[in-house]
Amino acid sequence: FFRAVASPPSSNFLLLGPNGSGKTAFTTLLEAKSSPASKKSHSTHTSQTSTLVSVSLPPTVPTASNRFRSKNDPSLKEATKNPIRYRIKDTPGHGKLRVSQGISELQKMSQSKDIKVKLRGVLFMVDTAALVDETTLRDTAEYLHDVLLVLQQRSLGKGKSSTKRDADIPVLIAGNKQDLFTALPPGSVREKLEAEIDRVRKSKTKGLMDASADSGVGEEEDEVLGDDDAKGVFTFKLLEQVGIKVDVVGGAVKGDAEEEIGSGVRRWEEWIGMCL
Ligand code: GTP
Ligand code: MG
Repeated sequence: FFRAVASPPSSNFLLLGPNGSGKTAFTTLLEAKSSPASKKSHSTHTSQTSTLVSVSLPPTVPTASNRFRSKNDPSLKEATKNPIRYRIKDTPGHGKLRVSQGISELQKMSQSKDIKVKLRGVLFMVDTAALVDETTLRDTAEYLHDVLLVLQQRSLGKGKSSTKRDADIPVLIAGNKQDLFTALPPGSVREKLEAEIDRVRKSKTKGLMDASADSGVGEEEDEVLGDDDAKGVFTFKLLEQVGIKVDVVGGAVKGDAEEEIGSGVRRWEEWIGMCL
Protein backbone atom coordinates (compact mmCIF):
# COMPACT_ATOMS: atom_id res chain seq x y z
CA PHE A 1 0.00 0.00 0.00
CA PHE A 2 2.67 2.45 1.03
CA ARG A 3 5.19 2.58 -1.73
CA ALA A 4 8.67 3.29 -0.60
CA VAL A 5 9.77 6.73 -1.64
CA ALA A 6 12.66 6.34 -4.00
CA SER A 7 15.74 7.34 -2.06
CA PRO A 8 18.36 9.32 -3.89
CA PRO A 9 21.06 7.11 -5.39
CA SER A 10 24.09 6.75 -3.18
CA SER A 11 26.52 5.51 -5.81
CA ASN A 12 28.58 8.26 -7.32
CA PHE A 13 30.87 8.34 -10.29
CA LEU A 14 33.21 11.12 -11.28
CA LEU A 15 33.72 12.01 -14.93
CA LEU A 16 37.10 13.53 -15.68
CA GLY A 17 39.20 14.07 -18.79
CA PRO A 18 40.56 16.85 -21.02
CA ASN A 19 38.30 19.38 -22.70
CA GLY A 20 36.50 18.34 -25.83
CA SER A 21 36.68 14.62 -25.08
CA GLY A 22 32.88 14.32 -24.88
CA LYS A 23 32.08 14.31 -21.13
CA THR A 24 29.08 16.60 -21.36
CA ALA A 25 27.83 14.82 -24.48
CA PHE A 26 28.04 11.52 -22.55
CA THR A 27 26.26 12.94 -19.49
CA THR A 28 23.52 14.39 -21.69
CA LEU A 29 23.08 11.04 -23.43
CA LEU A 30 22.80 9.18 -20.12
CA GLU A 31 20.16 11.65 -18.95
CA ALA A 32 18.21 11.34 -22.18
CA LYS A 33 18.31 7.55 -21.94
CA SER A 34 17.19 7.64 -18.30
CA SER A 35 14.21 9.89 -18.80
CA PRO A 36 13.26 10.10 -22.46
CA ALA A 37 10.55 12.63 -21.61
CA SER A 38 12.87 15.31 -20.32
CA LYS A 39 14.42 17.43 -22.99
CA LYS A 40 17.04 18.82 -20.69
CA SER A 41 20.14 19.54 -22.63
CA HIS A 42 23.44 20.78 -21.41
CA SER A 43 25.28 23.03 -23.75
CA THR A 44 27.91 21.17 -25.70
CA HIS A 45 30.33 24.04 -25.53
CA THR A 46 33.21 24.09 -23.06
CA SER A 47 32.00 23.48 -19.52
CA GLN A 48 33.08 25.84 -16.77
CA THR A 49 31.43 24.24 -13.77
CA SER A 50 30.72 20.71 -12.57
CA THR A 51 27.24 19.24 -12.75
CA LEU A 52 25.90 16.26 -10.83
CA VAL A 53 23.16 14.33 -12.61
CA SER A 54 21.11 11.37 -11.49
CA VAL A 55 20.69 8.69 -14.14
CA SER A 56 19.61 5.06 -14.35
CA LEU A 57 21.35 1.94 -15.52
CA PRO A 58 19.57 0.13 -18.38
CA PRO A 59 17.88 -2.96 -16.87
CA THR A 60 19.73 -5.28 -19.26
CA VAL A 61 23.13 -4.12 -18.01
CA PRO A 62 24.33 -6.54 -15.33
CA THR A 63 25.60 -5.33 -11.99
CA ALA A 64 28.18 -7.00 -9.76
CA SER A 65 25.39 -8.53 -7.67
CA ASN A 66 23.25 -9.91 -10.50
CA ARG A 67 25.84 -10.78 -13.11
CA PHE A 68 24.67 -14.38 -13.38
CA ARG A 69 21.06 -13.44 -13.96
CA SER A 70 19.44 -15.12 -16.94
CA LYS A 71 17.11 -13.45 -19.41
CA ASN A 72 14.10 -15.21 -17.85
CA ASP A 73 14.94 -14.21 -14.33
CA PRO A 74 11.99 -12.40 -12.69
CA SER A 75 14.46 -9.91 -11.20
CA LEU A 76 14.98 -8.58 -14.72
CA LYS A 77 11.31 -7.55 -14.78
CA GLU A 78 11.78 -5.95 -11.40
CA ALA A 79 14.82 -4.08 -12.69
CA THR A 80 12.79 -2.82 -15.64
CA LYS A 81 10.24 -1.32 -13.27
CA ASN A 82 12.80 -0.08 -10.75
CA PRO A 83 16.03 0.63 -12.56
CA ILE A 84 19.17 1.06 -10.53
CA ARG A 85 20.07 4.70 -10.26
CA TYR A 86 23.45 6.29 -9.79
CA ARG A 87 24.90 9.76 -10.01
CA ILE A 88 27.59 11.02 -12.29
CA LYS A 89 29.48 14.27 -11.95
CA ASP A 90 30.54 15.97 -15.16
CA THR A 91 33.54 18.26 -14.72
CA PRO A 92 35.13 20.86 -16.99
CA GLY A 93 38.29 19.61 -18.66
CA HIS A 94 39.98 22.89 -19.45
CA GLY A 95 43.56 22.96 -18.15
CA LYS A 96 42.96 26.04 -16.03
CA LEU A 97 39.97 24.51 -14.27
CA ARG A 98 41.37 21.08 -13.46
CA VAL A 99 42.91 21.78 -10.09
CA SER A 100 39.92 23.77 -8.83
CA GLN A 101 37.30 21.41 -10.29
CA GLY A 102 38.21 17.87 -11.41
CA ILE A 103 41.14 17.21 -9.09
CA SER A 104 39.53 18.88 -6.10
CA GLU A 105 36.26 16.97 -6.68
CA LEU A 106 38.31 13.79 -6.81
CA GLN A 107 40.03 14.61 -3.52
CA LYS A 108 36.75 15.53 -1.86
CA MET A 109 34.76 12.58 -3.13
CA SER A 110 37.46 9.95 -2.66
CA GLN A 111 38.15 10.98 0.95
CA SER A 112 34.54 11.43 1.98
CA LYS A 113 33.14 9.22 4.70
CA ASP A 114 29.61 10.36 3.88
CA ILE A 115 27.75 7.50 2.21
CA LYS A 116 25.84 10.00 0.08
CA VAL A 117 28.99 11.06 -1.66
CA LYS A 118 30.76 7.73 -1.77
CA LEU A 119 32.79 7.43 -4.95
CA ARG A 120 32.39 4.08 -6.73
CA GLY A 121 34.53 4.77 -9.74
CA VAL A 122 36.29 7.33 -11.90
CA LEU A 123 35.68 7.63 -15.63
CA PHE A 124 38.47 9.39 -17.46
CA MET A 125 37.29 10.25 -20.95
CA VAL A 126 39.70 10.75 -23.82
CA ASP A 127 39.22 11.64 -27.49
CA THR A 128 40.84 8.69 -29.26
CA ALA A 129 41.04 10.59 -32.54
CA ALA A 130 42.97 13.45 -30.94
CA LEU A 131 45.74 11.46 -29.25
CA VAL A 132 47.88 11.36 -32.40
CA ASP A 133 48.57 15.01 -31.69
CA GLU A 134 51.65 15.32 -29.45
CA THR A 135 50.35 18.28 -27.47
CA THR A 136 46.98 16.64 -26.81
CA LEU A 137 48.67 13.39 -25.80
CA ARG A 138 50.96 15.19 -23.37
CA ASP A 139 48.12 17.23 -21.90
CA THR A 140 45.90 14.14 -21.52
CA ALA A 141 48.70 12.10 -19.92
CA GLU A 142 49.54 14.89 -17.47
CA TYR A 143 45.94 15.11 -16.31
CA LEU A 144 45.59 11.34 -16.05
CA HIS A 145 48.89 11.13 -14.15
CA ASP A 146 47.65 13.63 -11.58
CA VAL A 147 44.34 11.80 -11.19
CA LEU A 148 46.07 8.45 -10.64
CA LEU A 149 48.49 10.05 -8.19
CA VAL A 150 45.60 11.30 -6.04
CA LEU A 151 44.18 7.77 -5.97
CA GLN A 152 47.58 6.28 -5.19
CA GLN A 153 48.11 8.69 -2.30
CA ARG A 154 44.68 7.76 -0.98
CA SER A 155 45.56 4.05 -1.18
CA LEU A 156 48.94 4.42 0.46
CA GLY A 157 47.65 6.80 3.10
CA LYS A 158 44.73 4.73 4.22
CA GLY A 159 46.93 1.86 5.40
CA LYS A 160 48.57 4.13 7.95
CA SER A 161 45.67 6.11 9.32
CA SER A 162 42.57 3.98 9.23
CA THR A 163 42.08 0.44 10.41
CA LYS A 164 38.95 0.01 8.34
CA ARG A 165 39.89 -0.38 4.73
CA ASP A 166 38.04 1.88 2.34
CA ALA A 167 36.89 0.32 -0.90
CA ASP A 168 39.24 0.73 -3.82
CA ILE A 169 38.23 3.14 -6.56
CA PRO A 170 38.62 1.68 -10.06
CA VAL A 171 39.35 3.82 -13.12
CA LEU A 172 37.82 3.49 -16.56
CA ILE A 173 39.64 5.16 -19.41
CA ALA A 174 36.71 5.72 -21.74
CA GLY A 175 38.19 5.92 -25.23
CA ASN A 176 35.55 8.07 -26.91
CA LYS A 177 34.93 8.95 -30.58
CA GLN A 178 35.59 5.47 -31.92
CA ASP A 179 33.16 6.39 -34.71
CA LEU A 180 35.80 8.59 -36.33
CA PHE A 181 37.97 6.80 -38.85
CA THR A 182 41.09 8.48 -37.47
CA ALA A 183 40.42 7.09 -33.98
CA LEU A 184 43.11 4.94 -32.38
CA PRO A 185 41.98 1.51 -31.18
CA PRO A 186 41.82 1.06 -27.35
CA GLY A 187 44.99 -1.06 -27.30
CA SER A 188 47.11 1.69 -28.77
CA VAL A 189 45.38 4.32 -26.62
CA ARG A 190 46.59 2.32 -23.62
CA GLU A 191 50.13 2.02 -24.97
CA LYS A 192 50.37 5.69 -25.87
CA LEU A 193 49.07 6.84 -22.51
CA GLU A 194 51.37 4.48 -20.60
CA ALA A 195 54.42 5.64 -22.53
CA GLU A 196 53.50 9.29 -22.11
CA ILE A 197 52.73 8.93 -18.38
CA ASP A 198 56.15 7.33 -18.07
CA ARG A 199 57.65 10.51 -19.53
CA VAL A 200 55.57 12.70 -17.22
CA ARG A 201 56.62 10.56 -14.27
CA LYS A 202 60.30 10.75 -15.18
CA SER A 203 60.26 14.51 -15.54
CA LYS A 204 58.42 14.88 -12.22
CA THR A 205 60.90 12.57 -10.47
CA LYS A 206 63.75 14.60 -11.84
CA GLY A 207 62.05 17.77 -10.65
CA LEU A 208 61.64 16.29 -7.19
CA MET A 209 65.28 15.22 -7.01
CA ASP A 210 66.44 18.66 -8.07
CA ALA A 211 64.15 20.23 -5.48
CA SER A 212 65.31 17.95 -2.68
CA ALA A 213 68.95 18.50 -3.65
CA ASP A 214 68.33 22.22 -3.31
CA SER A 215 66.46 22.09 -0.04
CA GLY A 216 68.17 19.08 1.46
CA VAL A 217 64.77 17.60 2.21
CA GLY A 218 64.27 13.93 1.44
CA GLU A 219 62.11 12.90 -1.47
CA GLU A 220 58.48 12.18 -0.67
CA GLU A 221 58.07 8.48 -1.18
CA ASP A 222 54.53 8.36 -2.48
CA GLU A 223 54.98 11.27 -4.86
CA VAL A 224 56.03 8.97 -7.69
CA LEU A 225 53.29 7.17 -9.55
CA GLY A 226 53.65 3.40 -9.62
CA ASP A 227 56.91 1.60 -9.08
CA ASP A 228 59.62 4.19 -8.59
CA ASP A 229 62.30 1.88 -9.90
CA ALA A 230 63.87 4.15 -12.50
CA LYS A 231 64.44 1.29 -14.94
CA GLY A 232 60.82 0.18 -14.92
CA VAL A 233 58.56 1.56 -17.59
CA PHE A 234 55.16 2.73 -16.40
CA THR A 235 52.18 0.47 -17.02
CA PHE A 236 48.67 0.67 -15.61
CA LYS A 237 49.26 -2.83 -14.29
CA LEU A 238 51.81 -1.43 -11.83
CA LEU A 239 48.99 0.38 -10.07
CA GLU A 240 47.24 -2.86 -9.19
CA GLN A 241 49.82 -3.22 -6.42
CA VAL A 242 48.26 -0.22 -4.72
CA GLY A 243 44.74 -1.40 -5.45
CA ILE A 244 43.98 0.77 -8.47
CA LYS A 245 42.48 -1.14 -11.36
CA VAL A 246 42.59 0.66 -14.71
CA ASP A 247 40.59 -0.48 -17.74
CA VAL A 248 40.70 1.02 -21.23
CA VAL A 249 37.46 0.57 -23.14
CA GLY A 250 36.50 2.14 -26.47
CA GLY A 251 33.13 3.63 -27.30
CA ALA A 252 31.31 6.49 -28.95
CA VAL A 253 28.76 8.94 -27.64
CA LYS A 254 27.86 10.03 -31.16
CA GLY A 255 27.45 6.66 -32.78
CA ASP A 256 26.54 5.53 -36.22
CA ALA A 257 23.12 6.91 -37.14
CA GLU A 258 21.97 3.41 -38.05
CA GLU A 259 22.73 2.01 -34.63
CA GLU A 260 20.40 2.16 -31.69
CA ILE A 261 20.90 5.39 -29.79
CA GLY A 262 23.30 4.97 -26.92
CA SER A 263 24.67 1.61 -28.07
CA GLY A 264 28.15 3.12 -28.33
CA VAL A 265 28.31 3.69 -24.59
CA ARG A 266 27.03 0.24 -23.61
CA ARG A 267 30.42 -1.11 -22.55
CA TRP A 268 31.02 1.88 -20.27
CA GLU A 269 27.63 1.27 -18.68
CA GLU A 270 28.65 -2.34 -18.19
CA TRP A 271 31.77 -1.15 -16.39
CA ILE A 272 29.61 1.11 -14.21
CA GLY A 273 27.30 -1.85 -13.53
CA MET A 274 30.21 -3.92 -12.30
CA CYS A 275 31.05 -1.19 -9.76
CA LEU A 276 27.52 -1.26 -8.32
P1 GTP B 1 34.78 20.33 -21.73
O1 GTP B 1 33.46 20.65 -21.12
O2 GTP B 1 35.42 21.49 -22.39
O3 GTP B 1 35.72 19.66 -20.76
O4 GTP B 1 34.53 19.24 -22.91
P2 GTP B 1 33.63 17.93 -22.88
O5 GTP B 1 34.49 16.77 -22.53
O6 GTP B 1 32.41 18.14 -22.06
O7 GTP B 1 33.25 17.75 -24.42
P3 GTP B 1 31.79 17.89 -25.09
O8 GTP B 1 30.86 16.87 -24.52
O9 GTP B 1 31.39 19.29 -25.04
O10 GTP B 1 32.12 17.40 -26.58
C1 GTP B 1 33.05 18.07 -27.40
C2 GTP B 1 32.71 17.80 -28.84
O11 GTP B 1 32.92 16.42 -29.16
C3 GTP B 1 31.25 18.11 -29.20
O12 GTP B 1 31.23 18.76 -30.42
C4 GTP B 1 30.63 16.73 -29.29
O13 GTP B 1 29.53 16.72 -30.19
C5 GTP B 1 31.78 15.89 -29.82
N1 GTP B 1 31.65 14.46 -29.50
C6 GTP B 1 31.36 13.92 -28.30
N2 GTP B 1 31.33 12.57 -28.37
C7 GTP B 1 31.61 12.24 -29.64
C8 GTP B 1 31.74 10.99 -30.34
O14 GTP B 1 31.58 9.88 -29.81
N3 GTP B 1 32.07 11.07 -31.66
C9 GTP B 1 32.24 12.25 -32.30
N4 GTP B 1 32.55 12.20 -33.59
N5 GTP B 1 32.13 13.44 -31.68
C10 GTP B 1 31.82 13.45 -30.37
MG1 MG C 1 31.77 19.64 -20.85
